[in-house]
Amino acid sequence: MSPLSITRTLPPDATAAALRADVAEGLSRTPKQLPPKWFYDARGSELFDEITTLPEYYPTRAEREILRATADRIAATGARTLIELGSGSSDKTRHLLRALTGLHSYLPVDVSESALRAAGEALLAEHPGLTVHALVADFQRGLTLPKTPGPRLLAFLGGTIGNLLPQERAAFLDSVHELLDPGDALLLGTDLVKDEATLVAAYDDARGVTAAFNKNVLEVINRELGGDFDPADFEHVARWNAEREWIEMRLRARDDLTVKIPGVDLAVPFAAGEELRTEVSAKFREDGVRSELAAAGLKLTEWWTDSAGRYALSLALRI
Ligand code: AVJ
Repeated sequence: MSPLSITRTLPPDATAAALRADVAEGLSRTPKQLPPKWFYDARGSELFDEITTLPEYYPTRAEREILRATADRIAATGARTLIELGSGSSDKTRHLLRALTGLHSYLPVDVSESALRAAGEALLAEHPGLTVHALVADFQRGLTLPKTPGPRLLAFLGGTIGNLLPQERAAFLDSVHELLDPGDALLLGTDLVKDEATLVAAYDDARGVTAAFNKNVLEVINRELGGDFDPADFEHVARWNAEREWIEMRLRARDDLTVKIPGVDLAVPFAAGEELRTEVSAKFREDGVRSELAAAGLKLTEWWTDSAGRYALSLALRI
């Protein structure tokens, strides 16, 4: 058997059905909203990769700094299986994989089969002894893991937990608890609360890459559902919600307009100035992370930040 296996737990039409349901529901309600996962078609993933290189977007660099500094201490968990949710190109874990010398299996989980195949093959070239079981799955809809040796380390990096709404976050952490055995660990990346100007700039960069990324969701709806959105009719908005401690990305209609979306049989009216919320990106504090983890039966054992204190990596033990 090849050391790279790819298992699909998502039926091939599940993604299309989920997009239709999210668009039909989210564009019929007031205020209008869409889940951020629909940014990431091939173009959206490219734009996101570009965002990670922008001077204003510090989280990726901050997380990399922490991973470099702590890889050996993470390796001290003795993990024999590394599970990575939203692995994409597996770039974030490359360093970690080198440090985890006792590793037997790597289980990258992503919705993109092409990304999993490319990443899996590249990693195997670097780690010929490793078993790679890639899973094409949506981690918010239940995961079944192949039997691999413990202890296991589940990595959820990039601050992506911040894109879940509070209820979804609690449900997600409960499912992590259920997935892991006592003694297994969670490695969690979280962006931290900081001054508003720094946060807003990270989501509204000078070159307009984030604006293009935000508007890409309209292109996805046009292509997949036959929509007639003109992205130029909308303005990119990034706003700090101080009460909820999250960044919101929105698309604001420049004029009164109606968008037809035949794939969901909708004509969606926008009033001039009306905003569609496309993403929430929550920012965290140590106490909040500790208590959310504890509520799910996960005990925070390490809290590491980058030297500028902008971003944190947590290690938590499944108890
Ligand atoms: C890395 C997916 C969590 O919320 O910061 C980047 C996505 N959105 N710029 C984030 C994103 C706008 C990003 N995640």
